[in-house]
Amino acid sequence: MSAQSLAGKVALVTGGGTGLGLGGAERLAEAGAFVYIVGRRQSVLEDAARNLGSNARAIAADVSKKEDMVRVASIIREEKGTVDIVFSNAGYCQGRPLEEVSEEFLDAMLNVNLKGQLFTVQAMLPIMNKGGSIILTSSMTAFIGLPQYTAYAATKAAVVGMARVWTTELKSRNIRVNVISPGAIPTEGYETVQGMTPKQVRDFTEKCAAEIPVGRVGRAEEIGDAVVFLASDASSFIDGINLVVDGGQTQVYAGRL
Ligand SMILES: NC(=O)c1ccc[n+]([C@@H]2O[C@H](COP(=O)([O-])OP(=O)(O)OC[C@H]3O[C@@H](n4cnc5c(N)ncnc54)[C@H](OP(=O)(O)O)[C@@H]3O)[C@@H](O)[C@H]2O)c1
Repeated sequence: MSAQSLAGKVALVTGGGTGLGLGGAERLAEAGAFVYIVGRRQSVLEDAARNLGSNARAIAADVSKKEDMVRVASIIREEKGTVDIVFSNAGYCQGRPLEEVSEEFLDAMLNVNLKGQLFTVQAMLPIMNKGGSIILTSSMTAFIGLPQYTAYAATKAAVVGMARVWTTELKSRNIRVNVISPGAIPTEGYETVQGMTPKQVRDFTEKCAAEIPVGRVGRAEEIGDAVVFLASDASSFIDGINLVVDGGQTQVYAGRL
């Protein structure tokens, strides 16, 4: 069996109905895992689960509500007993100049991008198997000083700190904790959450393609490949890292400022 096989494993993917979460869910299912996908929109989740096939199940829940994630854990416990892989991916990006960052804007982002990831892991721990893998989602934006992203960068940088603490807290249970920091990968959130027009997305994609050493923006399934790597025995000696999956953009970005 390949070191990347996840046959017999149970995975949870938050934000698994669209975008990078769906890319992760697809690759996890292809590698043999049974995948639970979580998001707030039931119909979006049901469609995604249907396309993923018989090894997937949708559960509507809001990661920013602790009781929702406890309910998700109890459903998984009832149906499968335990969970092996947690890909905490649900989150959103919005920019606003420092002077305009209201308490409400900051709280909303903290609730999903930071507390949501903490509640997800907290809720899953009681049912998580020894030898499990937790993968949190940060962003290249946390590390490059991009104007207007005070709140977003703060939540995404905090995730890296949490992961480091959890590697030691979960050491005795042999649970590894790693972070993925995606680069530019156009998803539905660019339009629905960030409010970009289709033309703005195209212009952004072209601009990024020119800047990114690999020569193009990323694809959701490329995050999925990184998730499978970090979830599987192929990464058995890797713990506490921040894996930047951005085509090399973070490495050259500083030179442009
Ligand atoms: N795409 C990029 O370029 C990029 C770059 C760096 C980092 N990221 C990070 O990657 C992650 C995924 O982004 P994406 O581009 O795939 O975004 P997306 O297309 O907007 O997908 C986000 C998913 O998360 C779910 N979600 C949002 N808030 C939620 C909540 N409170 N509870 C449960 N589910 C929630 C959404 O479903 P519902 O609306 O139905 O809840 C949706 O399925 C985010 O954490 C983002 O910050 C993305």
